[in-house]
Amino acid sequence: MRKSKATILSANLEAIDCSVEASWEADIIIVAVPFEAEKDVARKIQEVANQKIVISISNPLNSTYDGLVTAPDTSAAEELQKLLPNAKVVKAFNTTFAADFSSPLIDGKQVDAFIAGNDESALQTAAELVSTVGFNPLVAGDLTVSRTLENMQLLLIQLNMKYNYNWLAGWKILH
Ligand SMILES: NC(=O)c1ccc[n+]([C@@H]2O[C@H](COP(=O)([O-])OP(=O)(O)OC[C@H]3O[C@@H](n4cnc5c(N)ncnc54)[C@H](OP(=O)(O)O)[C@@H]3O)[C@@H](O)[C@H]2O)c1
Repeated sequence: MRKSKATILSANLEAIDCSVEASWEADIIIVAVPFEAEKDVARKIQEVANQKIVISISNPLNSTYDGLVTAPDTSAAEELQKLLPNAKVVKAFNTTFAADFSSPLIDGKQVDAFIAGNDESALQTAAELVSTVGFNPLVAGDLTVSRTLENMQLLLIQLNMKYNYNWLAGWKILH
């Protein structure tokens, strides 16, 4: 019998209730907190994030989900890079819903996961991570492309609410 990718993947997990200690242990740091909390977390992990890949997953949504709180000439990812100047910030995993992680295949198609960043080797490592968890990685450009990626998720949220996708929807480039 052919096993699916989800069946054969496994991981050892350790929960650490301290962002500094967890970041110290990590090779790749994923800051999975709301945009508003990133300043606080970045301040705590700044030293231990030195030269590490830090994934910006956040979407800086306003409280009514019809706009972003960031100015048009920046993004959550770029703001995180300013807070962590010695880290390699990569935008990834923001254009998907939480439910897509357990099911990155929708209607038989692998969901695309867009990646943006300024460091080539960090982009490659992030693409491998994205692929390992089941998405199709697409490097979209440098960190400024995060502005578009964060707006893409805003649109996906609005479409989800309009058409009732049940929070299981994703982007797919057909070519
Ligand atoms: N949910 C999605 O479908 C989705 C999709 C794409 C991207 N994202 C992005 O992923 C991030 C997390 O989303 P979520 O839905 O998981 O949010 P969430 O349910 O609000 O979870 C936030 C987590 O952040 C922690 N947190 C909040 N403030 C903190 C602080 N100051 N220091 C340390 N930890 C803090 C919370 O811990 P406590 O519970 O202990 O307070 C909680 O575990 C957000 O930036 C969001 O934009 C979410």
